[in-house]
Amino acid sequence: MREVELSDALLGWYDAHARVLPWRVPPMESRVGVLPDPYHIWLSEVMLQQTTVAAVIRYFHAFTTRWPTIHDLAAAKDAEVMGEWAGLGYYARARNLLKCARMVVADHGGAFPDTRDGLLSLPGIGPYTAAAIAAIAYGHSETVVDGNIERVMARLHDIHTPLPAAKPELTALAATLTPQDRAGDYAQAVMDLGATICTPKSPACGLCPWAKACIARTQGTAADLPKRAPKIRKPTRYGIAYIARRGDGAWLLERRPDKGLLGGMLGWPSAEWGAKPVAQPPLKADWQTLPAEVRHTFTHFHLRLTVQVASVADETPDTGYFLPADQFSSDDLPTVMRKAYNLAKGHLLAD
Ligand code: ADE
Repeated sequence: MREVELSDALLGWYDAHARVLPWRVPPMESRVGVLPDPYHIWLSEVMLQQTTVAAVIRYFHAFTTRWPTIHDLAAAKDAEVMGEWAGLGYYARARNLLKCARMVVADHGGAFPDTRDGLLSLPGIGPYTAAAIAAIAYGHSETVVDGNIERVMARLHDIHTPLPAAKPELTALAATLTPQDRAGDYAQAVMDLGATICTPKSPACGLCPWAKACIARTQGTAADLPKRAPKIRKPTRYGIAYIARRGDGAWLLERRPDKGLLGGMLGWPSAEWGAKPVAQPPLKADWQTLPAEVRHTFTHFHLRLTVQVASVADETPDTGYFLPADQFSSDDLPTVMRKAYNLAKGHLLAD
């Protein structure tokens, strides 16, 4: 099949099978020129970096309900946005999201740039996101390559070079198929194909609009592709989280520094995590160690956190501050800190 035949076949499949997603314009409407709100596309694409569609939908609704336009988001307080992002992970994304919203409002009158290069100049927008917004929100013929699309291309062309070395080759192959028209639908169609048909395990080749052209299918290699360079084993780090509660119900929390892991997020005081747990209680108290520990995996390491709890008097802590009970919501905590809270709450005064 020639390139245009392939892209036409995929667009025909998308017309019938596009996933219904809250930020999307369905193919019936996009075919007659209706474009989605760039704010929605940007927000969804930033949320979808490293996070599944199923997890993002709830957060997308929460953000667009609370901040319906980019002007609303740009005017939000940092802590509000970090709290609403809690649980999505990769918190640098949320800090850049807010920086980007403020820059779009301050420097671009609230309208996102409509070119890939213009978009690339904004915080938190890299080549993938710039291409996705230019294609989906503005209909430009830009090639979008994410992990799903790499897998689809590796199979279609039976590429055995392992990732990440194969990236440039897979990107070039993807570019040959990007159509001039309906580039946004096309980008979303390849994503949907990768997510629903050309899945990592047991791909549903019988339902694939590209089955006849797919070389890996004829070679029987589809399920083994893409190849990946062997993963480096993650080290384990250890730490102690200190969860203190005052007689009036206030919780001792700290806002983590903007830079670094969980930057800008709320958390329990805890010394640096390393090869051994370091004791550094935020104040003197009768600390009790909980019988269970928290386990959490970050991008580059596994973490095991011992949790210590204490009921404390009205003292000034060495680190952090007391947050009154009515201002505390465990929903505002990043997942690892919420796991610690869930372990501790039974031990520290029922509300
Ligand atoms: N993953 C990343 N971007 C996406 C999109 N626009 N639609 C579906 N899945 C996606």
